[in-house]
Amino acid sequence: MLSLLLKMKDEKAANEFFLKFKPKLLNNLQYAESIISEIMVSGSLRPDKFEEISIGDILDSIMKRLSIDNLIFERNLIHRQKLFGDKIRIYRALSNLIQNCIEALPNKKNYKIWFWSKDDLNSIRIGVGNEGSYIYPEDVRLLFADFFTKGKANGTGLGLSIVKEIINNHSGDIECISDISSGTEFVITLPVLAYMK
Ligand SMILES: Nc1ncnc2c1ncn2[C@@H]1O[C@H](COP(=O)(O)OP(=O)(O)O)[C@@H](O)[C@H]1O
Ligand SMILES: [Mg+2]
Repeated sequence: MLSLLLKMKDEKAANEFFLKFKPKLLNNLQYAESIISEIMVSGSLRPDKFEEISIGDILDSIMKRLSIDNLIFERNLIHRQKLFGDKIRIYRALSNLIQNCIEALPNKKNYKIWFWSKDDLNSIRIGVGNEGSYIYPEDVRLLFADFFTKGKANGTGLGLSIVKEIINNHSGDIECISDISSGTEFVITLPVLAYMK
């Protein structure tokens, strides 16, 4: 559509064409903008600075940047083992998950979002979940694929594939469990002695 518009010599016809397709063009522009910002902000997904990280501190700084009133946050971080990783990338992964939880909540009032962590053998598991949303099993299988988006006007479908890439690059894994009555939860497993892949 854009190439057609650029090729038009007659200015009046070009203006008419532009006005006719303006909503569609703006919509596409908005979509392109969200994809670009998703990619720009994530930068490289490979960890490049491995240091001891605190999930609690990362969550604190994410929460500080979000303006959310009517939601209930529950936090139960009980892991004791030390975790090493790239702070910026883990921040990015967790904030993508939290952002999705917030977007999934039907009317954003008094719904619960929770975080937990616990020790496993040589790994730490971190859960991020929310009540009030449900993902069908056939969609759960597609969630982490590039461009899978559902139920959002301007979803890029890149958020979860970025999360998965970051976690995999930390030699970890992520899965999604969704249940009609309890809600949706993402569980990350990160090895305690993680080495860069
Ligand atoms: N907490 C959640 N509850 C319900 N659906 C979710 C949740 N997190 C992700 N999803 C679903 O997974 C899809 C893919 O998420 P994501 O990759 O972040 O892309 P986007 O948010 O741009 O749509 C979302 O469109 C949504 O349908
Ligand atoms: Mg998202």
